[in-house]
Amino acid sequence: MAYYRRMGDIPGKRHTMFRKPDGTLYREQVMGTKGFSGIQSILYHHHPPTAVGKAELHAAFDIEFEEQGALRHRHLLTGDCTDTGDAVAGRRYMLGNEDLLIAVANVDRPMDYFYRNGDGDELLFVHEGEGAVETMFGTLRYRPGDYIVIPIGTIYRVIPEPERGRTKLLAVETNSWITTPKRYRNSHGQLLEHSPFCERDFRGPEKLETYAELGEFEVRTKSRGYIHLHMFNHHPFDVVGWDGYLYPWIFNIADFEPITGRIHMPPPIHQTFEGNNFVICSFVPRLYDYHPEGIPAPYFHSNVDSDEVLYYVRGNFMSRKGVKEGSITLHPSGIPHGPHPGKIEDSIGKKETTELAVMIDTFRPLRVVKQALAYEDSQYMYSWCADSQEASRTV
Ligand SMILES: [Fe+2]
Repeated sequence: MAYYRRMGDIPGKRHTMFRKPDGTLYREQVMGTKGFSGIQSILYHHHPPTAVGKAELHAAFDIEFEEQGALRHRHLLTGDCTDTGDAVAGRRYMLGNEDLLIAVANVDRPMDYFYRNGDGDELLFVHEGEGAVETMFGTLRYRPGDYIVIPIGTIYRVIPEPERGRTKLLAVETNSWITTPKRYRNSHGQLLEHSPFCERDFRGPEKLETYAELGEFEVRTKSRGYIHLHMFNHHPFDVVGWDGYLYPWIFNIADFEPITGRIHMPPPIHQTFEGNNFVICSFVPRLYDYHPEGIPAPYFHSNVDSDEVLYYVRGNFMSRKGVKEGSITLHPSGIPHGPHPGKIEDSIGKKETTELAVMIDTFRPLRVVKQALAYEDSQYMYSWCADSQEASRTV
């Protein structure tokens, strides 16, 4: 995160004595990135964060990818996935590479354990549902459209509220950090006037609840290709206060202010986040291009060096036929893609779009996870042929 926050009680000076009412010391933890040169926070615990009574391997974290086939566009109808579970174990992985994994999850139950990702930041996009993400930094409430950014090493659990509708998540697990795009920020880290969002749009933890109790608490840690089980001898949410720049935060996609123009604007204007070898963009309802001769639909284009993933949230996506809510399309580097037949003509004269979608562009090739093939529309690659069929009929 790019700005300072503090919650709860902290001493006036870092690395000084900070005592509990009984006179004993709180335990100070510096939690930072990039070897003390990245962003960090300082947390004050009732108990040492190292007090673990048992450590064991829980399970291998194996993602089985499909065998290499012909280079082609892919369409996964993840809305057809009826599997349910909690917000971590319930993830169904769809795509991945060395830099990130993309999963969906139909969340119908709270996590009965705590979890932290020791490999990188996570981003949870809330397609549907409301609930809470409880973390060592405090609790964040989520609602539809929220991007929840959870920094590496943050212990958390997700508690959905089924009475407010089912929770459906798109999860991006990375091996790096998720930040706002650097070009939106000045040298002090403040978001600039041309940024499509600003600090007021971000929500940090709302409430810091402190649990000083002892007992047995299961924390699962994803790291190095395995899920590890660490049995804490105290509640992991025992923090009385913290301050710094590292903490979980939320940005709602409805707060993304679209950038529009007289003629078609390129995808980078939709950019919302970036990480190592990937960007995440938001396609939100917006007015179309206003040049009198303008074509609102995108042109055909080649991603010379990036794969492009779209997750369709809501609305009628202007350039695609056959996609549904929850559809994921993958347009790989190396071959061009673009609007479906008829969609260019359909877009002419249209004033606005209600589409809502999340795009993830990766700069290394993605692979399809084997279990995702159950949701694949295998004819998607050939869905642009209508143009040439029509052409052959008219010639
Ligand atoms: Fe594209």
